[in-house]
Amino acid sequence: MITLKSKAEIEQMRKAGRIVAAFHQAIAGMIRPGVSTLDIELFAVRFLKDNNARAYTVGYNGYPYATCASVNDVIAHGFPSPKPLKEGDIVTIDIVAEADGWIGDSAWSYAVGEVSKEARDLMRVTKECLYLGIEKAVVGNRIGDVMHAVQSHAERNGYSVVRDLLGHGVGREMHEEPNYPHVGKPGKGFRLKEGMVMTIEPMINAGKAFMTVDADGWTARTADGSLSAQYEHTIAITADGPIILTEQKN
Ligand code: MF3
Ligand code: CO
Repeated sequence: MITLKSKAEIEQMRKAGRIVAAFHQAIAGMIRPGVSTLDIELFAVRFLKDNNARAYTVGYNGYPYATCASVNDVIAHGFPSPKPLKEGDIVTIDIVAEADGWIGDSAWSYAVGEVSKEARDLMRVTKECLYLGIEKAVVGNRIGDVMHAVQSHAERNGYSVVRDLLGHGVGREMHEEPNYPHVGKPGKGFRLKEGMVMTIEPMINAGKAFMTVDADGWTARTADGSLSAQYEHTIAITADGPIILTEQKN
């Protein structure tokens, strides 16, 4: 069942969204060679506590951390690690906060120092995919309209869209109905209704779309070892268009 949110509930959801956005603003200035993703995790734990928010992912299906930290060929769900990031890496940090009983969810890819043109282009196009999708997230459109915009932009740049991990409704829970891949055809799929709150979170690979999962049961990697990037926002579908609840300035 899809739970539609009232205007008042969407207002209440802004707090968790703002905390997640502020976290990303804060770590943007922190990520550089020598910093580890465990440093970022520890910062996240402190940041959420200071903002009276709960680290939603800790213990979620046994996931052990407040953040996911996915470096280079890791698509998603990487574990924070004490290994220092090095110049040229790209890292996606994903965080889910609960504040006043509502969830905000956002992932963002960051360059560590100077990165290759290949990495820069992948990050730019992936972010463009997110915003092209959001533009189509208007009442009356279908999810296929949104995801066609995402998929076609990725593919015309020679990239591929990960199929195995899905976008999802967000509310009192992190994963609510519906869920959907980031590929689609115009006019297909469920219709977007006022009051839906959901993620758009394309994971885009420089190579093929295929994914493997490490023995830890979480770390999802590109099967071909190619780079992967991801940008994720939590958005609300309203009569006045999409509201990005996790918008930040990076
Ligand atoms: N942002 C991720 C998602 O969209 C969060 C899941 S991490 C998990 O589903 F480890 F907690 F599952
Ligand atoms: Co998500």
